[in-house]
Amino acid sequence: MNAAKTSQDLIALYRRHVEIATRRAASALEKTGFDAVVLHAGRIQHRSPFDDMDWPFVPVPMFTYYTPLRWPDSAVVVTKTGAVLWAVEASGFWERPAAPDWSLIRAGLQTNVVPGLDRVKGSLPQGKIAFIGHERAAAADLGIAADDVNPGPLVEALEDARVEKTPYEIEVMAAASRRAARGHRAAAEAFMANERSELRIHLAYLRASDQDDAETPYKGIVALGEDAAVLHHNIYVDRPRAGSLLIDAGARYNGYASDITRTYVDDRAGDAEAFRALVEGLDRLQQATIEDITIGLNYESLHDGCHLKLGALMAETGLVTCSAEAAAEQGITRAFFPHGLGHSLGVQVHDVSCRKREPKPENPFLRHTAAITAGQVFTIEPGLYFIDALLADLKAKPAGDSVRWSAVETLQPFGGIRIEDNVYVRPEGGTRNLTREAFAAA
Ligand code: GLY
Ligand code: MN
Ligand code: MN
Repeated sequence: MNAAKTSQDLIALYRRHVEIATRRAASALEKTGFDAVVLHAGRIQHRSPFDDMDWPFVPVPMFTYYTPLRWPDSAVVVTKTGAVLWAVEASGFWERPAAPDWSLIRAGLQTNVVPGLDRVKGSLPQGKIAFIGHERAAAADLGIAADDVNPGPLVEALEDARVEKTPYEIEVMAAASRRAARGHRAAAEAFMANERSELRIHLAYLRASDQDDAETPYKGIVALGEDAAVLHHNIYVDRPRAGSLLIDAGARYNGYASDITRTYVDDRAGDAEAFRALVEGLDRLQQATIEDITIGLNYESLHDGCHLKLGALMAETGLVTCSAEAAAEQGITRAFFPHGLGHSLGVQVHDVSCRKREPKPENPFLRHTAAITAGQVFTIEPGLYFIDALLADLKAKPAGDSVRWSAVETLQPFGGIRIEDNVYVRPEGGTRNLTREAFAAA
């Protein structure tokens, strides 16, 4: 399939993105004592050494940061003064990689289409050259020393440079949210029309978001009823009597990811009213947490604040008999919401450089422990689940006495709730919720 033509506005933003990325890379090179870096796209990987089947090709993220091209063995060579794309065109007749939109790529990067990486070797700049990628053999082919493959300080500096998103990245991530929102709408409609096969809901999502499974940024989570208590449930089964659907599914646009979760209730199910009150409460709590976002605040404080809000919701809805503060402090909310509030998002679903220090012991799975800074994009994804093992532990502790277990039992068949949006921190203050605006447009 040919890539869709890109608008002139997006092309202009892309050109600017490459300029910004290259300027940031120049200072990373300067700081770490390199003159240039080869960002290698990678090569196709076998699924197993005992078989000749391959994984679908996904380029190395640092390469995708510069270009949406998905041609194996290609490379972007970045010096302190510019970046050049070497697009390696496959010559075999078994496969042909996706045709890119050259009008976009050539507008941002000087581009040479070549038959093999050996053409790059003779054109490498002078000086000390680093290589970033998983294909060490390609580095050797280019004559780059093994010690200069993925050098830690340079990788870290280049990853740090990806935290503040450029206007181009915001636009492609907004497009990735719009693509996913179309799929989410179709999945919700299928559920409301009584579909109770997780596989068929997943297929409805893929069809409406116009993507093959292998193109999605992560394996879609489609959980009916009790399956929502398995946080990454993706072994699809049928649940004919389920009264709820949790769907966590994303999409890509020009290599960038969206990561979105919604939870739906079927009002015809028994006890649906109590579960709906929780879903609506969690939705309000999620939006209130987004309103708390300010530049300079530590993301972990946002996470802790969200636990207090969850304690309040649990008290309001009769799940606990104690105060919000007690529910958060005594670990009750953490038994119901065991994962992190969210994570940085970009080329990678769990994007880089926002967990450079460990979280506090009570937040072991939190993936963002940095200060919130201008230009970040991250998810806000609170949840509330009925997970047997965690609830059994809680029940055995004194804090468990504050839980109304009869209310928990009633809600257990619904599995759980997660609501996840992708949020941009505007440099001028405030946020842009890429996901809510996408749903409004879908
Ligand atoms: N879908 C993976 C996550 O929410 O982090
Ligand atoms: Mn997420
Ligand atoms: Mn998700």
